[in-house]
Amino acid sequence: MRTTAYLVEEPGGAFVEAEVELDEPRADEVLVRIVATGLCHTDLTVPAMLPPEMLPTVVGHEGTGVVERVGTAVAGVEVGDHVVLSFRSCRSCEPCRAGHVGYCEQSLLLNYMGMRADGSTTMRRGEQTVFGSFFGQSSLARHALAYADNCVVVDKALDLTRLAPFACAFQTGAGTVLNLLGPSPADAIAVYGAGAVGLAAIAAARGAGVETVVAVDPVAARRRIAEDYGARAVDPGEEGAAPVEDRVRELTGGGATSAIDTTALPAVVVQAQRSLRPRGTLVALGLGAAEYTLDAIDLLQSGKIVRSSIEGEADPLTTIPELIALREAGRFEVDHLVTTYPFERIGDAVADAREGTVVKPVLVWPSG
Ligand SMILES: NC(=O)c1ccc[n+]([C@@H]2O[C@H](COP(=O)([O-])OP(=O)(O)OC[C@H]3O[C@@H](n4cnc5c(N)ncnc54)[C@H](O)[C@@H]3O)[C@@H](O)[C@H]2O)c1
Ligand SMILES: [Zn+2]
Ligand SMILES: [Zn+2]
Repeated sequence: MRTTAYLVEEPGGAFVEAEVELDEPRADEVLVRIVATGLCHTDLTVPAMLPPEMLPTVVGHEGTGVVERVGTAVAGVEVGDHVVLSFRSCRSCEPCRAGHVGYCEQSLLLNYMGMRADGSTTMRRGEQTVFGSFFGQSSLARHALAYADNCVVVDKALDLTRLAPFACAFQTGAGTVLNLLGPSPADAIAVYGAGAVGLAAIAAARGAGVETVVAVDPVAARRRIAEDYGARAVDPGEEGAAPVEDRVRELTGGGATSAIDTTALPAVVVQAQRSLRPRGTLVALGLGAAEYTLDAIDLLQSGKIVRSSIEGEADPLTTIPELIALREAGRFEVDHLVTTYPFERIGDAVADAREGTVVKPVLVWPSG
């Protein structure tokens, strides 16, 4: 079928609107008419890292929409269902069977290689191959091919423009707090980077009753959003102030019990480590740096734990409904983090996200 997609044609290049030919759904595929797709920082990072032979490509991994067709072998998803599209997993390898679908042995193949697991591609522009299948969706497009393992069916009454970021950023931030850290109210959590992932972590922590949360971010508007959740805020660029880690240690009464990095900046990751109290946990969530240098003496003397996480240890098929239920109960308030843009203004959405003037841009197709 013909559809419209936003292509990246060169590493780090802009999103370009194009008409493409998308395959009909195979037996295991679900054709989704996209309603709204969130833009995640990873959609900007990955195309900049791709070799030219994997371009042009269509990314987008926070898609939502309405199911138009399902393949004969698909179970659990029906035509007309409203779905949130998250990441893929094989559901049969050892990590998948143990419930750790973020660490699926097929993860790279299913989410990042630009093609189906059998090596075929799903899109063409004229004679040219267009790489897609990003997170089993490539949802910066009018239509997407998804799978039963990454389609989360949601209540039709819910606003898909608010649910799109649950597919990745909100699930990652909240999942890190709720699934990985499992904090008690007495804990003190420091969050480095108050973007979509960091603010979702803060919202989940506050919703879970964590008393002390500290947000570190150079952008004043983002610190203000964190403060509205009841977090204390630190401006890392404040002139004449004590080192960031000292300020965080002070605000957390001697050090954070956990620190979450969402900046992927090596200098910030070590600040996060140093701001922990003994036996505290550092969780590095950012994508972008090739290496981090940690403070080895502090690590040893204080018995600190260094962790990382894909998608906040979530299984989207269970975590996303749980987070939607928390949102309904008022314990995960994230709707105001979303700013919608018509798809044709994708360039403005990217610029605004890079400048930090919006937290979570969500691109929306006109209805009808
Ligand atoms: N682990 C995962 O599964 C997963 C999932 C989604 C996103 N990510 C990654 O998480 C990261 C965050 O994503 P996002 O969409 O929230 O990005 P974002 O750009 O909105 O957030 C990053 C924040 O870091 C802040 N920052 C910059 N310099 C800083 C400093 N010196 N100290 C403190 N904060 C600083 C920025 O102002 C910004 O608010 C990205 O690297 C993204 O690729 C990882
Ligand atoms: Zn993402
Ligand atoms: Zn697997």
